[in-house]
Amino acid sequence: MSSSLFRTKNIDKIISDAAIAEESAHSSGGALKRVLTVKDLTFFGIAAIIGAGSFSSLGEACFKGGPGVVILFVICGIACAFTAFCYSEFASRIPVAGSAYTYAYASFGELFAWIIGWALVMEYSIGNIYVAYSWSDYFTSFLHKVGVSIPDYLTCSYTEAHKAVLDQSTNDELINAWKTAPVVGSLRIIFDLPALVINMLITYLVYRGIKESRNFSNVMVILKLMVVGLVIIVGGYYIFANHSFNNWFPENDVHIKSFMPNGFGGVMMAVSGVFFAYIGFDAVSVLAEESKNPQRDLPRGMALSLVICTIVYILLALVLTGVTNYRNFENVGDPLARIFEAKFLNIGWMQFLVSICAVVAMTSVLLVFQMGQPRIWMSMSRDGLLPPVFQKIHPKYKTPSFATILTGLVVGVPILFTDKNFVLDFTSIATLFAFVLVCGGVLLIPRKEKVAGRFTIPYINAKIIFPLLILGGIIVLSVFSKGYFQGLFNFDFSNNADYVSGKISFMDAAIPNISLIIFWGVCIVLSIITFIKNYSLIPLMGLSTCLYLLTGMTKSNWAWFLSWLLIGLVVYFLYGRKKSKLAAESKI
Ligand code: ALA
Repeated sequence: MSSSLFRTKNIDKIISDAAIAEESAHSSGGALKRVLTVKDLTFFGIAAIIGAGSFSSLGEACFKGGPGVVILFVICGIACAFTAFCYSEFASRIPVAGSAYTYAYASFGELFAWIIGWALVMEYSIGNIYVAYSWSDYFTSFLHKVGVSIPDYLTCSYTEAHKAVLDQSTNDELINAWKTAPVVGSLRIIFDLPALVINMLITYLVYRGIKESRNFSNVMVILKLMVVGLVIIVGGYYIFANHSFNNWFPENDVHIKSFMPNGFGGVMMAVSGVFFAYIGFDAVSVLAEESKNPQRDLPRGMALSLVICTIVYILLALVLTGVTNYRNFENVGDPLARIFEAKFLNIGWMQFLVSICAVVAMTSVLLVFQMGQPRIWMSMSRDGLLPPVFQKIHPKYKTPSFATILTGLVVGVPILFTDKNFVLDFTSIATLFAFVLVCGGVLLIPRKEKVAGRFTIPYINAKIIFPLLILGGIIVLSVFSKGYFQGLFNFDFSNNADYVSGKISFMDAAIPNISLIIFWGVCIVLSIITFIKNYSLIPLMGLSTCLYLLTGMTKSNWAWFLSWLLIGLVVYFLYGRKKSKLAAESKI
């Protein structure tokens, strides 16, 4: 049994299966169309990456980490760059739709492939819920600016309004939503109407077809890059004109001026929001079957979009924290528009422009993710892990019709009963988990000779370098951050104000220590294996940096994520394991 769970799919077989599927779809007039070039793929990458993370969660991230959040953007950028190399290696070797799911099937075997496919639902569909909520925030504030208002109980989630009342929040809109909502029986009717409507429109667009979606997406990307560029130029100009450089070294609670006013711990608290801003470059890989030359263009598209977005994020974070004190971003959902308000830079037209652009930017993110999810399900269905209906291609529009509609429902229904913070954390942890497995997967597949015109991950023997890096890290932390390692093993939280006041439980307080102990333990084990097996440096760095980012996750993130995986395992054992084509073939 265990061997069948971890049986891997042969890479040549994956490619030939996809070719057969494509051919039979062609003959029945239902194949996906190969229309995308490297420019389109880069645009898709940017369309997926720059969205709610930069327009919305960046504010809270700046508040938690201060200007030092830039360091986290650099760390996340590096982690994603290493991971993009691994995605590119896989995408060039296995140029079929399915992304990390397909890659895991070739490296770790069926069970892990299923787990990844299941985790990707959180990246693509649950992530889109966060984007839809943020879209709604900007859209309603834009409507407000042009004099149109929607009742508060139709612009926020039930959970948010309920929580605001319980916490006696000062957020008037949420409190008002609760007070003014119509009541049916004992239930208050509160839901985010614009978020639901945009989800329906996007589902329709994706259902109608890739070409229409591509044209729409390219226009939106150009527009949002222009406006984000303008925010950086105008904001940067005012920082220099007003000499407000002091904001980059603000005073903290104990009156010490620092680039990281809340320490590195504060910076790491922003990990969900910052990492979320990077999610999306991997979405490019699900378009393998719609690319003209996937082996050459997918890696290029991913790399280009990632480099552009990393530069944009670092500049944006510097502009925000340079224009005003980082504390002004507490609970701010529209930070890029906020800096142009009267009490900061006072440029009304920029505020207006940014609001429109945010709506456009987030629409493009919604579009790309809504396209990615059905294509992953389609791959899983081809392998027999999901019912055949997930492969159904619309005869006229050539899109995976059933899977697209189901994606719309998976995004739309939870909009009625979740909230922004919950889905943000959920998405980031699942995506990081998938990235860890993709990097690990590259270490497991056999190395191949470089083929002209195809991407191959540069092989740097990590035998000595990786163990030295880990050893160096341990020495540097022991010397320059005295007490770091003793602190990890200290589970006496009597000095932790939140724990003493009962605000957080013992496990909440202990999780950061436990995560870091596991992280260092894994790094030491990896160093030993690398020394023996001569692993390649780039995937190892991707694996370790993504693992490090996972240490920023909280107890409740882990609890929800593990519960989700458990449900996935039940579904797998009830359906996928029995219907798996790989299992059936091996019995013949
Ligand atoms: N990176 C995407 C966004 O920020 C998910 O919206």
